Amino acid sequence: MSNDKEQTLIVLIGPMGAGKTTIGRLLAQRLNYDFYDSDAVIEDSTGASVSWIFDKEGEIGFRQRETKVIDELTQKKQAVIATGGGAILAKENQQYLQRGFIIYLQASVDVQYERTYRDRHRPLLQTANPKEKLKALFDIRHPIYTQLADLIIVTGYLSPKKMLQEILKQLPPQSP
Ligand code: S3P
Repeated sequence: MSNDKEQTLIVLIGPMGAGKTTIGRLLAQRLNYDFYDSDAVIEDSTGASVSWIFDKEGEIGFRQRETKVIDELTQKKQAVIATGGGAILAKENQQYLQRGFIIYLQASVDVQYERTYRDRHRPLLQTANPKEKLKALFDIRHPIYTQLADLIIVTGYLSPKKMLQEILKQLPPQSP
């Protein structure tokens, strides 16, 4: 990790179903940091669900809102941020995310599918073949997640509690 990174900002990236919100919440509790979920912040500030925004404004509209929120959230300190799976796509976002220590929660397409196939709230997966969509997204995004990551944790095998321990073992010391 480069020294100019904010030691007290932790950013979780990774695909839908990787467990960013669950792990982010646990990590924040453990470190006594604030927790933010970028999708939830977008929904609160818009007063509408992610699905509604995709429907009315298209993915482009959602991504514009996401960039604004990612810029705001990554200026926080003593915070853990869980980001939406596509938050790593825009170059601008990549720069903002690098204000923090970035953890990539990596999940296989099978694990992602298992955890998301019943979900009606993820607009990108409302297709005839969501598994194929997850695979296509993985192929595009995995290299970006990997390149941005300061730490990679594979999910789907360990309980959230064990994953938290794994992360804490590998996290650089948090400045007070
Ligand atoms: C998206 C992931 C979602 C949400 C939106 C788009 C994506 O967040 O931001 O539906 O592009 O992968 P989660 O990763 O929290 O499900």
